[in-house]
Amino acid sequence: MKIEELNEKDYNHYFWKTPSPRRKGNICTMKTVLLCGLAAVLCVSSYYFGSEANNYRVGSLEKQLEYVKSVLSVETEREKRNILETSHKEVLHDIVKRSNDKEPLTPSGLGGVTYVRWGRRNCPGNTQTKLVYEGVAAGSHYSHYGGGTQLLCLDHNITYREGTYVNGNQGSSYIYGVEYRDGAWADGLFDLSLIEEGNFRNHDVPCAVCIGYGRVNQLMIPGRDSCPAIWTKEYTGYIMASAHGHKHSTEYLCVDDRPQVVPGSGGDQGGVLLYLAETQCPSLQCEPFVLGREIKCVVCTI
Ligand SMILES: *[C@@H]1O[C@H](CO)[C@@H](O)[C@H](O)[C@H]1NC(C)=O
Repeated sequence: MKIEELNEKDYNHYFWKTPSPRRKGNICTMKTVLLCGLAAVLCVSSYYFGSEANNYRVGSLEKQLEYVKSVLSVETEREKRNILETSHKEVLHDIVKRSNDKEPLTPSGLGGVTYVRWGRRNCPGNTQTKLVYEGVAAGSHYSHYGGGTQLLCLDHNITYREGTYVNGNQGSSYIYGVEYRDGAWADGLFDLSLIEEGNFRNHDVPCAVCIGYGRVNQLMIPGRDSCPAIWTKEYTGYIMASAHGHKHSTEYLCVDDRPQVVPGSGGDQGGVLLYLAETQCPSLQCEPFVLGREIKCVVCTI
């Protein structure tokens, strides 16, 4: 192809519209080759056609060179945008593909969300959910003022490092264990098949910190036992809290309806006492909230 014949149509066809498997890396090379070629033609033309008569041809070639330069800069910008858009699409495709995978994601994958599973020492149910640590529920005594406001999932594998504690009560803040406290009337509401003794009264409440890999959010819904569309159910339970007449409040917990107990625990040790929460109407409207009914809950992740 001669440079004189290089009109826009040919240019686009020859350099850009020809299918090329890896156009990404070609911009710079093609630009260099084209500009060098044009420069060479210009030099040769100037050398052979130095006369007044040929200045017209040189001028015409210079104009063509300017034209090619301007087309090149426009095309380079366009190609840059294409590459950016393509790489964004590839990343998005990768994320969607991974989140659709049925295989459990590894810790180095897309991260995850954690939640406490009250009343359990493990995190069964979903292949993408794993145990972070097992603990015991702990908090402030039902008859005390002060203390902490929330309940802790205290790591059972506790670290006592020499020099980081002073033995003996110094009369400061106290942390107690948590007991299931409802009477026999509540046994029928729970699946007690994981508890050897067949009842959980006065036993200590365990907890598990679980992580749902590849999830971005978690939610406890009081009053429901199923999750909204596209959310994943982690576990269901009952809303429990301190008794209404006790001095110290607890938060409302969603305690697993197939509970476990802390092994070796039992007997009334005081501490934090958990009871099933029952809706009160007409403070809550009696339709739909029925007086004295216990409330289910569900923990969902997405
Ligand atoms: C308890 O913690 C130690 C490190 O402090 C660790 O080596 C050990 O594996 C843990 N045990 C359990 C049962 O998690």
